[in-house]
Amino acid sequence: MTIHHIGYLVKKLERARTAFEALGYGVERETVRDEFRKVDIVFLVKDGYRVELVSPYDPSSVVVGLLARTGNAPYHVCYEVDDLDVEVERLRDARYVMQDAPAPAPACGGARVAFLIHPYLGIVELLQKTG
Ligand code: NI
Repeated sequence: MTIHHIGYLVKKLERARTAFEALGYGVERETVRDEFRKVDIVFLVKDGYRVELVSPYDPSSVVVGLLARTGNAPYHVCYEVDDLDVEVERLRDARYVMQDAPAPAPACGGARVAFLIHPYLGIVELLQKTG
């Protein structure tokens, strides 16, 4: 598994994007609306690192509660994996609990992602490698 991106939860997507751009980040993929999770997502890159800005657009979004607790902050590392289902099972055996079962992610070209949470580590995202 290889690191794909670091996910940042932000209240104001466009303002956060502008602030990242002022630090030298470039937009890799324009904003995509994920209607399943009710978030807007934009991918930025700098120095070979990829950051995903995630911002809820609806009060029923799954990340609204977390954003209220953490404020604007990084909240997950995403790992790209060869076989999502195998890795999910491997992590579940290692005390991770499924938070968001494997489902297509519109912001990742429809590739499947899963979110798991570990008692001492927090949230991990797994992304099925494509192509
Ligand atoms: Ni992510």
